[in-house]
Amino acid sequence: MRVVIQSNSSTVGTWAARHIAGAIQEAASRNSRFVLGLATGSTPLTTYAELIRMHREEGLSFAHVITFNMDEYVGLPKEHPESYHSFMWNNFFSHIDILPENTNILNGNAADLLQECADYERRITDVGGIDLFLAGIGVDGHLAFNEPFSSLTSRTRVMDLTIDTRIVNSRFFDGDVNAVPKQALTVGVGTVCDARQVILLATGYVKANALKHTIEGDVSHVWTASALQMHPDPIIVCDEQACMDLKVSTYRYFKEEEAGSNQ
Ligand code: PGA
Repeated sequence: MRVVIQSNSSTVGTWAARHIAGAIQEAASRNSRFVLGLATGSTPLTTYAELIRMHREEGLSFAHVITFNMDEYVGLPKEHPESYHSFMWNNFFSHIDILPENTNILNGNAADLLQECADYERRITDVGGIDLFLAGIGVDGHLAFNEPFSSLTSRTRVMDLTIDTRIVNSRFFDGDVNAVPKQALTVGVGTVCDARQVILLATGYVKANALKHTIEGDVSHVWTASALQMHPDPIIVCDEQACMDLKVSTYRYFKEEEAGSNQ
């Protein structure tokens, strides 16, 4: 596991955006399309802002990028301002040159949700799998909406959201937990871990406990992000505050590793 410790959420976004841009450009230099898994939430906003800046000022193109989002609420209209469709278009897709037909977001209003999930997995397989999955982490350690006790081999499916997650997300619904949908469609832990590379972002002290379990704890369905310990190429990009619960020796190890890799 690689852990990149940055000073704050802004530099976390800059690091992640530059890494993603480099991977997209490397694929483009081979005339290859790039399949990018994406997350919603507060944490990736700085990454999206930097990618948008690179598109505007440095010519970074998304014309050959195919995206798959992690999750979507069940039953929330696509046009609702807090749907993940709205989030992605408002915060990222509308500002870059991605082709709308190359964006994939689960349909939480599909007549047959199980079929929607099965089709999503097939669509990922049909494009040759995901090259890089950008992820966040919940305060309960969830990876996508894979709540505690999700199977670490799970695939895209319907998930009941925990009350913890609904309380945390109620900040987007005027603080009204009852307005937060009770279910979501989410890629599984197995779906994320099938990506060739996973970048997990964690910022703020609120994520410190989850990050400790993810990096230092056992691989466990209690903290589903800990499944990344079994991934061949995971990168955690976090800020100083999110490291507050790590052992000093763990923190120093990763700081020294990165200092060495930059020389
Ligand atoms: P956040 O959400 O970025 O809004 O903290 C992350 C998550 O719940 O996975």
